[in-house]
Amino acid sequence: MQIPFHKTHTTQEEIDAVVATLESGWLTTGPKVVEFERAFKEYMGVKEAINLNSATAALHLALKAIGLKEGDEVIVPTNTFVATAEVVTYFNAKPILCDIEEDTHNIDVSKIEPLITPKTKAIIPVHFGGQPCDMDEIYSMVEGRRAKGEGKIFIIEDAAHALPSSYKGVKVGALPKTDITCFSFYATKTLSTGEGGMATTNNAEFAKSMRINRLHGIDRDAWDRYTSRGSWYYEIVDNGNKYNSTDINAALGLVQLKKQEMLREKRAAIAKRYLEAFANNSKITLPIVKEDRKTSWHLFVIKVANRDELIKELKGRGIGCSVHFIPVHKHPYYKERYGYRESDYPVANRVFEQSLSLPIYPDMSEEEVEYVIKNVVELLG
Ligand SMILES: Cc1ncc(COP(=O)(O)O)c(C=O)c1O
Repeated sequence: MQIPFHKTHTTQEEIDAVVATLESGWLTTGPKVVEFERAFKEYMGVKEAINLNSATAALHLALKAIGLKEGDEVIVPTNTFVATAEVVTYFNAKPILCDIEEDTHNIDVSKIEPLITPKTKAIIPVHFGGQPCDMDEIYSMVEGRRAKGEGKIFIIEDAAHALPSSYKGVKVGALPKTDITCFSFYATKTLSTGEGGMATTNNAEFAKSMRINRLHGIDRDAWDRYTSRGSWYYEIVDNGNKYNSTDINAALGLVQLKKQEMLREKRAAIAKRYLEAFANNSKITLPIVKEDRKTSWHLFVIKVANRDELIKELKGRGIGCSVHFIPVHKHPYYKERYGYRESDYPVANRVFEQSLSLPIYPDMSEEEVEYVIKNVVELLG
């Protein structure tokens, strides 16, 4: 049996939606992007949703919107995909890496405060695997400092894994004290348009900045210019980027957005089966979900002593696994440029050595799930 680490959920509905867009005569940012943004903001219950071509673009423009400048600092967990830290470097600002919690693999909020300096401009919590971080603790730390006159620290959520997730009954993407939330629609994500991203915010100024900067700093979208509503004239009002998404991607996104709860249920059922099957296995540390939050189950990460060997053996039996993540402080570029020290991240180091992500996607059959379980148990002996 061959079980890839991930397979995208694509049905005739997605195919029909893309074909209809191909036949429409307009492929790039246009009516479908507008419709996708509207559907996304209604789904979230927020004022603004800005569709971009990746979460990396969303994070970059979010930092631009809050006014990040050279020399500023942004606190991010070391256990993340490099994009979270990389976007900070675009500004010649410094990513300040924070260690993580042993059980959730999320940023350890108790370790954030000592990292805060007068240069700290923002914190980017990453909802690892879809489980929301301890957001209330982050908000109260930031508000406490503000009350003492210590300057504003913005909160930008990296929600690349967190659709759909919720924290204390509120959807990630709609937490009112967060400035901007960024989602990824990359190939392996819970909503996939191949590549893509979305930023949500209730702040009209941030939204305006992101909309302008996603298309070269033009004061309005190309689509406007080419329809009867628009004219040929435009002005560049900022030095922006080429980060707009396309109607083809948005057509896919619209179909997948409607299915998010159903697709989550399917992943949750797989997670439940893994949790049951491995519950009494002393060689496996299982993921935990805190009581007051709901995870998207984007990832199912177990920890074992012989991680590398297990991945190799599972591969030999046709099962694809992955590792989330190689901590940012271990990557040569980051280590050399910023001088991060291994000893500052003991938990992330330990978690990294032991973690492996098992396949978990809606179209996995029961037989495939059982095959994964059987082989993991057999190989661990
Ligand atoms: C935690 C995290 N943040 C950001 C990103 C970047 O997303 P994108 O590929 O859409 O730019 C990823 C992608 O894997 C991710 O896992």
